[in-house]
Amino acid sequence: MDINLEGRVAVVTGASRGIGAAIAAAYVQAGAQVVITARKPDGLAKAAAEIGSGVHAIAAHAGKEEDAARVVDETLEKFGRLDILVNNAATNPYMGPLIDASLPAWDKTFEVNLRGPLIWTQAAYRGWMKEHGGSIINISSIDGLSAGGPLAVYGVTKSALIFLTQQLATEVGPGVRVNVLAPGLVKTDFARALWEGAGEDAKYPWPLQRLGKPEDIANAALFLASDASSWVTGGLFVIDGGGSLGGAFS
Ligand SMILES: NC(=O)c1ccc[n+]([C@@H]2O[C@H](COP(=O)([O-])OP(=O)(O)OC[C@H]3O[C@@H](n4cnc5c(N)ncnc54)[C@H](OP(=O)(O)O)[C@@H]3O)[C@@H](O)[C@H]2O)c1
Repeated sequence: MDINLEGRVAVVTGASRGIGAAIAAAYVQAGAQVVITARKPDGLAKAAAEIGSGVHAIAAHAGKEEDAARVVDETLEKFGRLDILVNNAATNPYMGPLIDASLPAWDKTFEVNLRGPLIWTQAAYRGWMKEHGGSIINISSIDGLSAGGPLAVYGVTKSALIFLTQQLATEVGPGVRVNVLAPGLVKTDFARALWEGAGEDAKYPWPLQRLGKPEDIANAALFLASDASSWVTGGLFVIDGGGSLGGAFS
């Protein structure tokens, strides 16, 4: 299986820590040049130092059109190509029922989690991929697969991100592939409230019993970025240790 990314250039949003940083590190290890973005320069600099050569940091807000355009322009100026885009950054400012959601929280969540992936995809497609091809990977969540959870607004954006992925996949082939990952509970800052306090050896109520690691998601993102997945587009990949299966484990 060819998972070599030698000569490829990737942009990963929300990559100063957690899943985005693990994806960037996996791509660098496979030989790519990787542009990592996030809002805070300090976190980006720390991640860039940890990942090492092959990674380049640019501060940018995932929901802002001008930031997406600036990152794509700088990437093309510096590296001359853009083969892989990972729309990973997300936010969750509101926890609670949809019926009580405030519109500012709704707007912010949609700006980053849904409008963001569209504007970064448009910028990458128009700037490079339309002519030269590419692979786009969106990071959704199992919260976008079934209703009823407490992350209601977030869940709506993550569900819509799956549709956005599938719709785009029908529009931009055969040159560009678009796929989506739906992680379950992964041990990062984002989900801290859901795992903090449980011991290192805690057993979780799903088939594979452990929390996800950022690397579990990065491995799937590596497959989707590489030629090993050259016949895969519009795909939804649930990476959750079996957590969304329900039944005996739920
Ligand atoms: N952890 C989980 O259990 C889990 C489960 C399912 C899906 N996911 C999804 O996985 C992705 C990554 O989550 P994570 O757990 O790795 O989160 P994390 O550890 O909190 O990292 C989030 C990253 O995104 C950046 N970011 C946040 N808001 C941003 C914005 N508006 N513009 C640009 N960058 C922004 C953060 O840096 P700055 O703060 O400096 O901007 C940071 O680099 C998200 O799409 C999330 O929905 C996570």
